[in-house]
Amino acid sequence: MKKYNKKTFPVEEVRRFLEPSPTVLLTSKYKEEQNVMTMGWYTIMEFVPSLIGCMISGGNHSFELIKKSKECVINIPTIELSKTVVEIGNCNGSEIDKFEKFDLEYESGNIVKAPLLTNCYANFECKLYDDKLIKNYNFFIFEIVKARVATSPKYPKTIQYRGDSHFVESGKNFIIPSLK
Ligand SMILES: Cc1cc2nc3c(=O)[nH]c(=O)nc-3n(C[C@H](O)[C@H](O)[C@H](O)COP(=O)(O)O)c2cc1C
Repeated sequence: MKKYNKKTFPVEEVRRFLEPSPTVLLTSKYKEEQNVMTMGWYTIMEFVPSLIGCMISGGNHSFELIKKSKECVINIPTIELSKTVVEIGNCNGSEIDKFEKFDLEYESGNIVKAPLLTNCYANFECKLYDDKLIKNYNFFIFEIVKARVATSPKYPKTIQYRGDSHFVESGKNFIIPSLK
């Protein structure tokens, strides 16, 4: 699998990669156990601090690990990993070691304990910022505390989830200058 040359990226600017809502891989770790799940349901909430709201179903094994550890990593896979992304989102980490099963390479984070996926374009380390909506909505509000992003390509080809097995691939990028 491809490995990227990455550099530290300003956390207040990571929305450039997350506003198009690519389907991401969420890694977690609590004590000796680590896991990875697929996530498509999230939203940017603030730039400074860099906040992101994520819906993580209570039935997911990741839910327990993240609730207990209060941290995770958002990893952005590119289109080449699409099949693996779907497979990771269709199996349960309490039954199998997904890192082994899908041959996922990973490295240690700088701030959180959850692993950074080496074969993903970007890795955003997150700490739980607000737990108020978890109980009623399984909605976690995280602060991105450290970001590492590949130095190229400038615009990675990612996939967005439309539900029911339908995806869109990211398209042409262009700039419309701000009027302010
Ligand atoms: C494309 C795709 C997007 C998904 N998005 C989410 C999501 O945003 N939130 C969620 O809770 N589950 C989502 N899922 C489902 C989880 O990835 C799935 O339940 C996974 O098996 C959970 O793994 P775990 O039990 O090991 O944590 C998605 C699955 C796929 C295939």
